[in-house]
Amino acid sequence: MDNRYSETVSSVCESKIREIFESASDDIINLALGEPDIPTPKYIREGVKNAIDKGFTHYTSNKGTDELREKISIWVANHGYYTDIKDVIVTSGASEALHLAAQTFISDGDDVLIPDPGFVSYKPLVKIAGGNPVPVITDKEYNFKLTAKHIEDFLTPDTSVIFLNSPSNPTGTLIDNKDIKKIVDISEDNNIIIISDEVYSEMIYNQNKISYVSPRKYSDNIVVVNAFSKCFAMTGWRLGFVISNNEDIREMLKVHQYIQACASSISQKAGEVALNNSQRGIDIIYDKLSKRREFMLQRLEDIDGLKYIEPEGAMYVFANISEFGSDIDIVRHMADEGVLAVPGRAFGPNPDNKDFIRLSFSASEEEIDSGLSILNKIIREECF
Ligand SMILES: Cc1ncc(COP(=O)(O)O)c(C=O)c1O
Repeated sequence: MDNRYSETVSSVCESKIREIFESASDDIINLALGEPDIPTPKYIREGVKNAIDKGFTHYTSNKGTDELREKISIWVANHGYYTDIKDVIVTSGASEALHLAAQTFISDGDDVLIPDPGFVSYKPLVKIAGGNPVPVITDKEYNFKLTAKHIEDFLTPDTSVIFLNSPSNPTGTLIDNKDIKKIVDISEDNNIIIISDEVYSEMIYNQNKISYVSPRKYSDNIVVVNAFSKCFAMTGWRLGFVISNNEDIREMLKVHQYIQACASSISQKAGEVALNNSQRGIDIIYDKLSKRREFMLQRLEDIDGLKYIEPEGAMYVFANISEFGSDIDIVRHMADEGVLAVPGRAFGPNPDNKDFIRLSFSASEEEIDSGLSILNKIIREECF
């Protein structure tokens, strides 16, 4: 055997964001974080202890417990569609849900549309499933907002799947409702599956907190991926889910039962506790992040000449550093000075990505303040 590793795995690059994390020391100011820097709310932590003592520590059904799936179906009813508990598989975070969906719907050589800039996992997941990732290049002039026109422009005869992610990681922009509707129509006309990654569904910021509308409102042909990770600050519990219709679920379950068996029993209990009072949990995280978003935006306003995309959702600001230097140089320089951020080019080959760095506002006000002061100092130096 010449090759020790499979060609597929060898063709996948390691996550640039992980590389940045792993190089970080403990006292670093982390503005690269992709998770709430807030503990899981106390009522969830307290509520689950009992389940451990009672020995709820065995396999559950592959799909997850009925109780949790029932509560998930009630939660997502707020997103505009009805779900039967049969149509839910509980997974190990959104990451496993995305993987299941990719393995189930992508065949060798299929073209798969992924937003660019977009979440770093889509491209490797498509490759691991044997597909061909097609970056949908969006425009910086319009805050990289994905529209139906972009999807039409990048569609190929071999497109089998489109990934959507609204609110978006890394830009925080939303796909407008009229575009969502049109993209759903395009998918139906062309027999394409939409995998809708909704992990930031509860993090939409405006004066009157609006409810999230899922593309699944408009068609059953949408596979929804969501998780407890971001909106309940439960990243370490590894708890997510995938929703689709009956046959899709049967096929995805084949992958899930062989690679995962079931999500952690204790985490499923924690998910139940979270959803016993879902608004309470979501509000704790939302209120904190929304204050920090305001704080970061105010501090960015104070940095002369720095432009940024005002995030409608999620927990990141995509800041345009093109006037001051390259994304890589600025991020390296920041790391040398003890602050982590993510270079825009980590989010896809879109040539405009390298004009940006991603700053997470999931950090304390002190950290945001110090981190942005250092950024300010660096960009003044880079200019000269
Ligand atoms: C858009 C998006 N989807 C999925 C995930 C993965 O979420 P989880 O931690 O639930 O696997 C992330 C994490 O950063 C994300 O930003």
